[in-house]
Amino acid sequence: MRPLLLATLLACTAAQAATTRKNEAAAQIPPFAEHLLGTVRQAIAEGGPTAAVRACQALAPQIASEHSQQAWQLGRTSLKVRNPDNAPDAWERAVLERFASAAEAGTPVKELRHGEEVDGQYRYMQAIAVGEPCLACHGTAIKTEVQEAIDQYYPHDQARGYQVGELRGAFTLSRPIAQEAP
Ligand code: HEC
Repeated sequence: MRPLLLATLLACTAAQAATTRKNEAAAQIPPFAEHLLGTVRQAIAEGGPTAAVRACQALAPQIASEHSQQAWQLGRTSLKVRNPDNAPDAWERAVLERFASAAEAGTPVKELRHGEEVDGQYRYMQAIAVGEPCLACHGTAIKTEVQEAIDQYYPHDQARGYQVGELRGAFTLSRPIAQEAP
């Protein structure tokens, strides 16, 4: 085969693999997001937002690990975290900063996503926008009782003061490239 043709074919295969990984990563997010949202909604319906803070605190990390049982590791991160365990690593921070600049420049938060190969892992992030139901715990007018519950579990909480539509953080995923099916 002529070298140019071979190079083109290899480049196409690599591009295809990247698209597949990106789609596969994106497909992991809705069940995880719905599980989190369903849990928070149910907890609010049953016991109000204060009880829901306790439920989130107890259940959010567990939900993330339940959804990370296949090759993919799933989590959430932010430039302003509530749970310090969700703090971004250097790569995540750089991506979040790019998302923040793009959002400031007018790109809708829902469109912000980025996938890349990093040190033998495929890593993918998808931005999370603040919606109306988030304000009870991340907004500017959080009830005193809810604030007290948050302060109790997260004395270093940075995740309040948000408005609807703002960038709250991102889903963050990774999977080892070596483990991919041939
Ligand atoms: C009942 C209160 C409550 C509501 C409502 C709520 N959250 Fe949270 N949120 C929390 C708590 C508590 C945590 C920390 C839990 C954890 O991940 O360990 C958290 C963590 C997060 C994180 C992970 C990063 C971090 O700061 O630790 C993101 C992202 C997030 N929330 C986004 C949202 C979005 C988007 C909504 C609305 C769809 C929402 N939250 C609604 C209480 C709430």
